[in-house]
Amino acid sequence: MQNNQFIKAMQFRFACKVFDTNKKISDCEFETILESARLSPSSFGLEPTRYIVVRTTFMREKIRAFCWNQPQITEASHLVILTSKIADLYPQTAYTTAQIKRKTGKNEEALRLYKDERYGGFLKANNYQDSQNLFNWSVRQAYIAASSMMNMAAFMGIDSCAIEGFEKKELETFLKIDTFNEQIALLLTFGYRKEEPKHPSPRLNIDDLVSYI
Ligand SMILES: Cc1cc2nc3c(=O)[nH]c(=O)nc-3n(C[C@H](O)[C@H](O)[C@H](O)COP(=O)(O)O)c2cc1C
Repeated sequence: MQNNQFIKAMQFRFACKVFDTNKKISDCEFETILESARLSPSSFGLEPTRYIVVRTTFMREKIRAFCWNQPQITEASHLVILTSKIADLYPQTAYTTAQIKRKTGKNEEALRLYKDERYGGFLKANNYQDSQNLFNWSVRQAYIAASSMMNMAAFMGIDSCAIEGFEKKELETFLKIDTFNEQIALLLTFGYRKEEPKHPSPRLNIDDLVSYI
């Protein structure tokens, strides 16, 4: 195995629970983290994830109450809420039509066939016509972007912690999210560690994880 810069960044990353409240990420650095989200892959190129950067202390304090009162929500330099599209992802919508057209460059007839047969068939085969299943699929794309963002942050010497511990319905209601169209996938916090982690993050051995056939 190579010990390259990316591996070093991944070794640097840990789930930061205590952020240094005096250290802030610059706008330019944070834009770089957001760019890593924008460049992340998504199934069918649908880019179904949206990023709400919560900037006010007032909002962050309110949101913390819906997140098991986890201190990272208010103490990290930056808080981002990742939401996942749902209704827009059905084949006939203007959003999906535009995304697939942009991605494939297909003409009207080829586009119609692709949407109805390939994409529509994919949704049908996986039972993604069901909105809960469609959301679960959409969320998976958000996690890919979240991974990019945390790894990019680590590459830049910036710490992070993903937050899945939140009351989803209550937070969506508080944020006035139209849950027919989109729902919250997860939250991400970014900033600088107050102290070094006490132990290295335990990991299974590679032989326990990988098999070759
Ligand atoms: C999707 C996801 C959600 C997580 N949610 C939380 C959370 O709500 N609160 C928290 O303190 N840590 C959270 N974590 C951090 C994990 O507990 C941590 O990544 C895991 O224990 C491995 O440790 P490491 O990241 O330091 O290697 C989350 C991690 C992931 C990937």
